[in-house]
Amino acid sequence: MTVSFCGLELRHPIVNGSGTFDAIAARRVFGDALLERFPFAAFVSKTITPAPRDGNPPPRLYETPAGLINSIGLPNKGLRGYLEQDLPELAQLPVPLITNVMGSDAAELCALVEALDDRAEIDAIELNVSCPNVRTGLDIGADPVGLGAVLREARPRTAKPLIVKLTPNTADVGLVAQAAEAAGADALSLINTLRAYAPHPRRARAAWLGNGTGGLSGPAVRAVALAQVREVARRVSLPVVGMGGVQTGAHAAHLLEAGATLVAVGTESFRDPLAATRISRELDDFFAKSGEIVE
Ligand SMILES: Cc1cc2nc3c(=O)[nH]c(=O)nc-3n(C[C@H](O)[C@H](O)[C@H](O)COP(=O)(O)O)c2cc1C
Repeated sequence: MTVSFCGLELRHPIVNGSGTFDAIAARRVFGDALLERFPFAAFVSKTITPAPRDGNPPPRLYETPAGLINSIGLPNKGLRGYLEQDLPELAQLPVPLITNVMGSDAAELCALVEALDDRAEIDAIELNVSCPNVRTGLDIGADPVGLGAVLREARPRTAKPLIVKLTPNTADVGLVAQAAEAAGADALSLINTLRAYAPHPRRARAAWLGNGTGGLSGPAVRAVALAQVREVARRVSLPVVGMGGVQTGAHAAHLLEAGATLVAVGTESFRDPLAATRISRELDDFFAKSGEIVE
């Protein structure tokens, strides 16, 4: 079930959701066996920011009945640390590499995109636009006008495919998707996590997460992901990477049927690092049994 995506030929349609699979740590644990049986058809890095970040204060995770709320806060080594330390290791993976970045304004995003454009090891760039705009307080990706303006500046800085990762925390995701398409995005990915709050289990009026709020992922968001992927695929003609709560081949098939070209597995990889291998096998079986062809 090979797939073309932004000029890349992928072995199957399953990739990872940014920040949910640490390929460098997994290689340390599983050794070269990881490279021989790599679960994803392309690898998406966790979000890289211009400067290093420590992430949010703990606690950073809260389990809900059908999902996970995280407030990890994007800890990372910063652009320089990524290029010098992580990129040489990620370049050894047997699949194309998509680097995910986040900037808090157009200048930061342009600098990130330009720096990545120089590196042949990187096949595509994913822009995480779930970042508050310092002026409006709104996430950049929640506001179609602001997102369009930022993208129009970043677009000319790279010849690599630009994937814009949309936030579900917005009034009309289709409108944001159209703004990204008009500003030159090559593909869209969604959904990122839904803003969520976990009360402290024992203390009155207190939050559990160190950061107060976090982002909900896992099975709880699957129906939201399906609705948003459907809507975006209807409103734009760009390829879409669909994600949110995928645990089985049938869940992946439903996102493909909703209009996605690729499907990302996120939270499920925490339960089983090889879940994506099972999901892509189940996806083959799903279509073999139903006899359906997904266009
Ligand atoms: C622990 C955790 C860390 C994440 N880190 C990132 C990140 O660094 N950048 C990003 O764009 N999305 C990040 N995400 C969002 C996922 O890539 C994905 O969009 C979301 O979790 C929905 O998919 P899922 O329900 O399969 O997990 C993270 C999600 C989780 C659960």
